[in-house]
Parts: sequence; C-alpha cells; structure tokens
Amino acid sequence: MNHTRVITIDGPAGSGKSTVARLLAKRLGIDFLDTGAMYRAAALLGLRRKADWNDPKMLVRLVQGHEIVNQFGKTTLDGEDVSEAIRTSEVTGLTHFAADNPEIREVMVTLQRQCAVGRSLVTEGRDQGSVVFPDAYRKFYLSASAEERARRRAEELRARGENPDVEELRQQILLRDQRDSQREVGPLRVPDGAIVIDSTAMSVDEVVEKMYQLTQSRR
Ligand code: DC
Repeated sequence: MNHTRVITIDGPAGSGKSTVARLLAKRLGIDFLDTGAMYRAAALLGLRRKADWNDPKMLVRLVQGHEIVNQFGKTTLDGEDVSEAIRTSEVTGLTHFAADNPEIREVMVTLQRQCAVGRSLVTEGRDQGSVVFPDAYRKFYLSASAEERARRRAEELRARGENPDVEELRQQILLRDQRDSQREVGPLRVPDGAIVIDSTAMSVDEVVEKMYQLTQSRR
C-alpha cells in the first residue's frame, strides 16, 4: 500500500479477530495491533502488584507508571515478554477491571493512535472502528455464534495445556459479550461504515481472503 492506512477489526470475544488480523496484516505487508492484549497486560500488572480492584484510581496510577507495548505480535510489560502470561483464564477474568476503567481506556487509546502514526496497521479490538480510528480506511466487524466461539477458545486453552469446560466457557463468553457491549466508554458495537462478517461457518483463510479482497477493492 502506498499511503498509510488503518484497517480495523472489531468484534466479540473469540470471533477470531487476533488470528485474522495477524494474517491479513501479513498478506498486506503491514503491522498489526492486538488491543485486547494491552488491556490484558494492564490486568496482569494489577494481579502481580496485588491491586485493589475496587480502587480504579490506583489501577490508573499503576498503569501510568509502567510500559505496555504490543508490537510484532508480542506483548511486553516493562520490556518483559508477557504474551503467554496474559492469556490465562485468571487474567481473562480480571481484564474487565482495566477495560471498564475510563481513564485506563484514555491511556490505551492514546497509545493505540501513536502506533498508527506514519504507518499502516491492521488493528483489532472492541472500539477500534468506532472510537480509536473512526476514519479508518476499511472497517470490519467480525462475529460468530457463542457456541462456536466457546469451541474455539477451548481449543486455544487446550493447546496451552489447560483443561476447559466448554459450557463454562460459553457462559463466560456470554458474560463478556454483555460487559463488552454495556461498557460506558468504548462499548462493543458495529462501527459506522463497518462491513459485518459472520465467521461461524467460515475458515480463518476464508475470512482473511474476504477481508483482503474487500480491502483491495476499495477505491
Ligand atoms: O480480545 P481479547 O479477548 O483479548 O480482549 C480482552 C478484553 O479486553 C475483552 O474482554 C474486552 C477488552 N477490550 C476492550 O475493551 N477494548 C479493546 N479495544 C480490546 C479489548
């Protein structure tokens, strides 16, 4: 691509955004940003520092005093690679304390916009097309049924050596959907101008191909 362009992919937990964003970025020869990983890293920080989750101000101060970076598919916290550590069920369950915090969102939004200065990016999350990059070149909203998303999450966790209960995962996913869409700041919604893709019956390659064609065909 000749000009710097931002392509956003928003959608609920487990819809395949991260995988698709990484592969689409690779296909387009540009970088990708996993914004959920940034909120996860903030939660990991709180967990490690034994944050009082009922004290949102303290969590903000904690996050402001540390460096969270997501780049080249890797997430670092003060330089330490925490890409694996942020994927545990414990961190997943605590991440809403960071994501629901308006001041932490402000910090993250600024960091995310900085990532796109002077470079093209595929970025994925919940608010990328609606709040962070409303003028994005192409916006997608990727969804899938809760059953399919639970099945995918179970596969991921098994690959990491965990032994998940799929029905429990489905319940957790429904709870996260509810939290994500009811959040006061940066809630999950279909951004204006986004193309909606339901990936329930699609393979990763099919989704990437569709997004690639739709991105290339945009005039
Ligand atoms: O995509 P994920 O599961 O890694 O995201 C982790 C959590 O972070 C998710 O429950 C919602 C939140 N999130 C958010 O609020 N805004 C974003 N841009 C990305 C993620």
